[in-house]
Amino acid sequence: MDRYAVVGHPISHSKSPQIHAAFARQTRQAMTYEALLAPLDGFATTVHAFRHALGRGMNVTVPFKLEAHDIATELTGRARSAGAVNTLVFGPQDTILGDNTDGAGLVRDVTNNLGYPLGDRRVLLLGAGGAARGTILPILGEHPACLVIANRTVARAEALVDQFASSLPAAPVTASPFGSLAGHKFDVVINATAASLTDQAPDLPPELYAPGALAYDMMYGKGDTPFLAAARRDGATGLADGLGMLVEQAAESFWLWRGVRPQTKPVLEALRAGRAP
Ligand code: ATR
Repeated sequence: MDRYAVVGHPISHSKSPQIHAAFARQTRQAMTYEALLAPLDGFATTVHAFRHALGRGMNVTVPFKLEAHDIATELTGRARSAGAVNTLVFGPQDTILGDNTDGAGLVRDVTNNLGYPLGDRRVLLLGAGGAARGTILPILGEHPACLVIANRTVARAEALVDQFASSLPAAPVTASPFGSLAGHKFDVVINATAASLTDQAPDLPPELYAPGALAYDMMYGKGDTPFLAAARRDGATGLADGLGMLVEQAAESFWLWRGVRPQTKPVLEALRAGRAP
């Protein structure tokens, strides 16, 4: 049996063990997947111990994604651009490949599961922290008409745009404070702020949603998040939380480890219904 695990602090709430167990059953992979609680000052020790116990790879969650980026001996382009790693692959001669599948998971959920292609669409990304940063390269890879990054503290959004402008000078990406969004309309609005964690919604001007637009919150929970409730009032047609992104980022990690792409639909449906997948 090949061993995998998710490491975080806290970790008991993680749905990743259930999701990967379902993927393994579905694709008949001989593997186990466990949840590991690392002490806040013991991430590297936990990773190396798992690796020496014949672990093949790990998922990494809060608060260790930056440390995972630093522990990797090689990085994929999307991990480098995200500045954070959520997937480790243990290779020969002590090599550790760091990848970030979060942004690809988001894009796959929006385009495949929800049916909102991003090509030639106007996309608004709210937030400029780690969660937002990880999505930028995958979103730009879909060739949107524009990607506006809006943040409460606009300097952080500007710093992100500058970073991408130097590596992708032709990318249609700009920064904005929330207030200056007034009068503009978007086809897809993605909330990557941490506002939902404190039961708040970003303070946005009204009428941001173009006809048929999607509001997507990377957070998930029971019912509408405050952002989704506000989007519903403001006329967004499609509303989605981040549960699909969670399942899709897991599928992307699974594919990286096993070379097999699991079907995500039955797993997502089970989680939505509150059943074990
Ligand atoms: P993460 O890694 O989850 O992205 P982070 O790096 O701390 O966490 O970033 C949090 C993001 O949520 C930031 O964009 C933050 O905005 P500021 O840069 O202005 O702080 C945003 N955020 C948090 N609470 C918010 C709120 N109530 N309204 C709007 N944005 C909020």
